[in-house]
Amino acid sequence: MAEATAPASSANLGAGFDTLALALELRCTVTAELSVDWRVDHVGAHSPDSLAQDAVLAAAQRAVGIERPLHLTVSSEIPVARGLGSSAAAYAAGALAAWRATGIEPVPRRVFDLVSSLEGHADNAAAAVFGGLQAVTISGDAYPLVLHPNLLPVLAVPTAVLLTSDARAALPDSVSRYVAVRSLQRAVALVQGLRTADRALLAAAAGDEIHEEPRTGLNPQAAELITAARDAGALFACWSGAGPSVLALSGAAQRPEIALSLASVLDNRGSVLTPAIAANGVE
Ligand code: HSE
Repeated sequence: MAEATAPASSANLGAGFDTLALALELRCTVTAELSVDWRVDHVGAHSPDSLAQDAVLAAAQRAVGIERPLHLTVSSEIPVARGLGSSAAAYAAGALAAWRATGIEPVPRRVFDLVSSLEGHADNAAAAVFGGLQAVTISGDAYPLVLHPNLLPVLAVPTAVLLTSDARAALPDSVSRYVAVRSLQRAVALVQGLRTADRALLAAAAGDEIHEEPRTGLNPQAAELITAARDAGALFACWSGAGPSVLALSGAAQRPEIALSLASVLDNRGSVLTPAIAANGVE
């Protein structure tokens, strides 16, 4: 029997739309063994909607070919359709477990290319495969960035779901030069702020006009969650991926206050999680 596990991720981080993602220590774990037919069992707390395409199955079949049936068992800690990279983690763990079950140990780049192509964008794929804070280039390569150790995640995860496909459909095809320039200014401040945990730089990086603003109508609670996190001491807060979850980053001392504040806004319609940063990606 072969096994692989991949982390959740928060993509975008505000101004890093389709470019940045941070791996989080909530995992999708897949075991795979040779079988006479394709079969998938979901045993964890979070499984895909029965009507949705099964990401683990899709990745396993893409990796080893449909003519090599496997019995896949999936246990995921990652809430689905909440902007936490559940599909990227499922693709990564599914592909790697399938390859291993057929005697192949792929290089991480091969897993990344497969996950990226199934996802259609590379940000969550980079974090799921390589771990830590990742950036992607125009040509679809990934490279690590430095995250200051005093920036620890707190997640607000609403009960409501938001499909990435719906969130992407809300985006305009083009933005004005003024929006582009403000977005560059935020993105550069963001990368340096994440590296240094500098309060002023992270404040200068706040907000986003390329994806957060156009998606506001799909996730009206995001603004309130972000404000609550900042008021409770977060150095930075943003949509997690396409939402509806919100990611706050803060020092350890502020985390309990931020968690309480986010829970109060969610008002029993969601949960607050405090995962560690996942230094390792798929493994
Ligand atoms: N960058 C992607 C988006 C991430 O915002 O659409 C999806 O989780």
